[in-house]
Amino acid sequence: MTAATGMQVFKPQFGRPVPDIINATTPNVTPTGGGRIDSGNLMIDNIVATIEQEGPDSVAAVIAEPVQGAGGVYPPPDDYFPRLREVCDRYEVLLVVDEVITGFGRTGKWFALEHFDVQLDMMSIAKAITSGYVSMGAAVWSKEVHETITDGPGKFMHAYTNSGHATGAAVGLRNLQIFEDENLVENAAARGDQLLSGLQRLTENPHIGNVRGLGFMCGFDILKDPETDEAFPAADAMGAKLLKACPSRGLISRVRNDGYLLAPPLVASEAEVDEILTIVEDSVRQVTAAL
Ligand SMILES: Cc1ncc(COP(=O)(O)O)c(C=O)c1O
Repeated sequence: MTAATGMQVFKPQFGRPVPDIINATTPNVTPTGGGRIDSGNLMIDNIVATIEQEGPDSVAAVIAEPVQGAGGVYPPPDDYFPRLREVCDRYEVLLVVDEVITGFGRTGKWFALEHFDVQLDMMSIAKAITSGYVSMGAAVWSKEVHETITDGPGKFMHAYTNSGHATGAAVGLRNLQIFEDENLVENAAARGDQLLSGLQRLTENPHIGNVRGLGFMCGFDILKDPETDEAFPAADAMGAKLLKACPSRGLISRVRNDGYLLAPPLVASEAEVDEILTIVEDSVRQVTAAL
């Protein structure tokens, strides 16, 4: 999946990009360099233009992340995936969805595409199947795709040494049983709502803006002027400063440029989410006061 990413930062170390993967342009319209929640129409137009340009008969699949994760935590508009499904059907192209981050509860549902009531053709899953205690990743596909492979001529020559590994599968089953026993998906939904509305309240701070999130995946930008989307000069490195300010108060997370991104553990409690919000607020105040 890393080979398919549109994030340029992943490219230089690996030589030439994988041939035949074409990245549709993401509108880079925020000052902090990410996508934007309201730019879904533009993204669909870009995908349609790319399919048309390449020739629909030469396109096998469109690959998409349900919520852009490492790219800055950008949930799509509600009609984005229904429209993407319609585009894929129109051009007879498979819809492949990368649920590596979002799968197994992260967005408050077992799988993120459930939010949009869209049926995918294939998906990649990993991280939370085992919660990372043991390595495990998987590809899942529809009956139709399966039958096309099994009924087709010749053998499907694709394998990994550790495919179908019994230890990974056993840990995955036990881990997901704990998710069910402890209602962790429901917890992610409830605590995600708490985190998102708490971040929205923090926009009373004059430098917190672009709050976004779906379930327990949230983000905001630290901005010079949230009213006009004006970013701090890159040299101020506000995101990096915020990243450094939080751990001494007890919060470790990540940034993309000046976007601060939060994906707390699915077991986080109401009190812990409140603590996250207090730490974020105090840390933003600290780094902006020093200007
Ligand atoms: C959305 C997403 N997909 C896939 C991956 C990893 O893909 P791969 O195992 O191919 O490197 C990551 C890594 O964090 C990810 O965030």
